[in-house]
Amino acid sequence: MGNNTNYEFDVAIVGGLGHVGLPLGVVFANKGLKVCLCDIDKKTADIVKKGKMPFIEYGAEPILKKVLQNGNLTISLDDHFISKAKNVIVAIGTPVDEYLNPKTRQFLEFFGGIKKNLRKDQLIVIRSTVYPHTCKQVLNLLGEGWKVAYCPERIVQGYAIKELKELPQIAAGLSDKAVEEASELFSKIAPNIIKTAMGEAELVKLFSNAWRYIQFAVANQFYMIANNFDVDYEKVRHVMREGYERAHSLPSAGFAAGPCLLKDTMQLSAFNSNNFLLGHAAMMINEGLPNFIVDRLRKKYDLGKTKVGILGMAFKADIDDVRDSLSFKLGKILRFHGAGVYYSDEYSKNPNFVSKEELIRQSEVIIVAVPHSAYKGMKIPNNKEVVDLWNVTKKKK
Ligand SMILES: NC(=O)c1ccc[n+]([C@@H]2O[C@H](COP(=O)([O-])OP(=O)(O)OC[C@H]3O[C@@H](n4cnc5c(N)ncnc54)[C@H](O)[C@@H]3O)[C@@H](O)[C@H]2O)c1
Repeated sequence: MGNNTNYEFDVAIVGGLGHVGLPLGVVFANKGLKVCLCDIDKKTADIVKKGKMPFIEYGAEPILKKVLQNGNLTISLDDHFISKAKNVIVAIGTPVDEYLNPKTRQFLEFFGGIKKNLRKDQLIVIRSTVYPHTCKQVLNLLGEGWKVAYCPERIVQGYAIKELKELPQIAAGLSDKAVEEASELFSKIAPNIIKTAMGEAELVKLFSNAWRYIQFAVANQFYMIANNFDVDYEKVRHVMREGYERAHSLPSAGFAAGPCLLKDTMQLSAFNSNNFLLGHAAMMINEGLPNFIVDRLRKKYDLGKTKVGILGMAFKADIDDVRDSLSFKLGKILRFHGAGVYYSDEYSKNPNFVSKEELIRQSEVIIVAVPHSAYKGMKIPNNKEVVDLWNVTKKKK
């Protein structure tokens, strides 16, 4: 694509300093496109301008440094820069509110706000996960003749650099031209493009996250049943899967958290007039796992006199993102019952966290909430109670 004659940039990514926008921008810039990351977060902009990644994204930092140095990547807090790019990709957050309703109005108001910087011949690509029909509403807001595409992100957080070049990219649009241009743009970085209708693409993204969330709920429900029966779920799972392919997809138990799975399951539910029994059941099970762990501990310990350590505060293994992590919910429930609680994490920095060694020394009960690699094979003294959903730690003899 190279530099466009009419536009200074090939791509502007709005929300370009976020978990989705930043690795995407870095990968496009590494392919030789002129990319501008547009954002409102000055603190993160200062970090990224120095060539530092503000969060863990494996393999991204050397590429970030390279594309800053060769001038392919620009960072701007001035929304006027959106008007300088041929393609505008929107990757801002799309949360649900405190009652689990999608904040669609906020997303449309955002478009109302940036409209002054948009040009009719630009391609507008929505990358954020959206409530169905949102793209159509964006088009209604912009007006007839605009090119609006939806190219959802399906990458597992922390591994975008690897997965952007491995996963097919879904491309949908509200005109043939939008689909064609979005396909051309993403074919610069994706191995292949799957063109679908808009409604299909919107559901592909929501179904994918709800599907994962429900699978985790099945595992978590099995974990609770096995524990009530004094049986180790991981051992059952191991036997179920050994030489038996039909059970291979059964996941381990564990906290199913983070900013996407629950939120997208609830978006789907809202879209289907709150008629998504499996989604709601999954939420009750997954969100109920911390309560289940605490209830079992309460049967054995007077929590008012017990110190409990939580190993792993990120929402999943080997990343530093604590957004919507269930480890904090677990800590809150424990404190409510009077326990002294220590937090530790290998990647997320927080002055209130302690090292894993200190946590093990201080706590009578240790809960492995996230299976960070650093906990694998870690020896824990025999006199400590360990709740280890993944069986990653070892008891010291
Ligand atoms: N994190 C993931 O792994 C993941 C995966 C798939 C899809 N998604 C979806 O992608 C979207 C973004 O998620 P994320 O995790 O990257 O969020 P994030 O919070 O990490 O990033 C959002 C970015 O948008 C910026 N921003 C907010 N309002 C802005 C505005 N008005 N103008 C410019 N910038 C603005 C923020 O400062 C932030 O840098 C969401 O819809 C999410 O559901 C996320």
